[in-house]
Amino acid sequence: MVTRADIAVIGGSGFYSLLDEVEEIEQPTPYGPPSDVISVGRLGSRRVAFLPRHGRDHRLPPHRIPYRANLWALRALGVRQIIAPNAVGSLRPELGPGTLVVPDQLVDRTTSRVQTYYDTGGAVHVSFSDPYCPSGRETAVHTAREAGWQTVDGGTLVVIEGPRFSTRAESRWFTANGWTIVGMTGHPEAVLARELALCYTSLCLVTDHDAGVEAGDGVTHEEVLAFFASNITRMRSLVTQAIESLPETRTCPCPTALDGLKLPITLP
Ligand code: ADE
Repeated sequence: MVTRADIAVIGGSGFYSLLDEVEEIEQPTPYGPPSDVISVGRLGSRRVAFLPRHGRDHRLPPHRIPYRANLWALRALGVRQIIAPNAVGSLRPELGPGTLVVPDQLVDRTTSRVQTYYDTGGAVHVSFSDPYCPSGRETAVHTAREAGWQTVDGGTLVVIEGPRFSTRAESRWFTANGWTIVGMTGHPEAVLARELALCYTSLCLVTDHDAGVEAGDGVTHEEVLAFFASNITRMRSLVTQAIESLPETRTCPCPTALDGLKLPITLP
């Protein structure tokens, strides 16, 4: 296999302009096509792929994203480390819009998404107690703080099925459980990355307070999109700096996630 990229960004369309010398690749997978063509190019000294999670035209709602195809396609291009920017709602009054959370835990409240590559031919149970790459997280937190972001190192991301937002009661329950932020796309992306022994780091930009946190009308889609769009330049430069600081050789536990497990499929 020719390695086309080592690192990937899965995010919104605002990240297209990250790359130089871009080539567009249609990467087929056993799980169908990914969300869109994958742009592969150079960012400084690194080979980087970019995949728009919702498709270029944002046609895919969170529960319709082809998560398995996306992660598989990136691995097939040689990618081993993933940076995943996300818009999220805050479950805490003190974490307002503009805060960056680099979560260290995840709670899965999705209901309809296939979340494994290993569903036939024998059980494969990957460890997922710590769902994110420790060195990717450390790099992201350090880079964000250096760049002056209000950054939370750790916290629990609860991923809801969507596409609707949470009710006030659901949101209050999430807060009461001690969870930090809520989003719709962080899962099964994280576990599928682990099942392919990839490093996965989630960068969560708070765009709103979720419904249970403040009195008022609750969160709207327009509010989320407008806030993310107004922060895209900052996010782009954070992602650029984080990628340049990622280690070239992986010393984290992620590459050994599948050691000792009998895999019923051959990974790309
Ligand atoms: N994405 C951005 N804000 C959100 C919220 N409040 N709930 C779920 N997903 C979100």
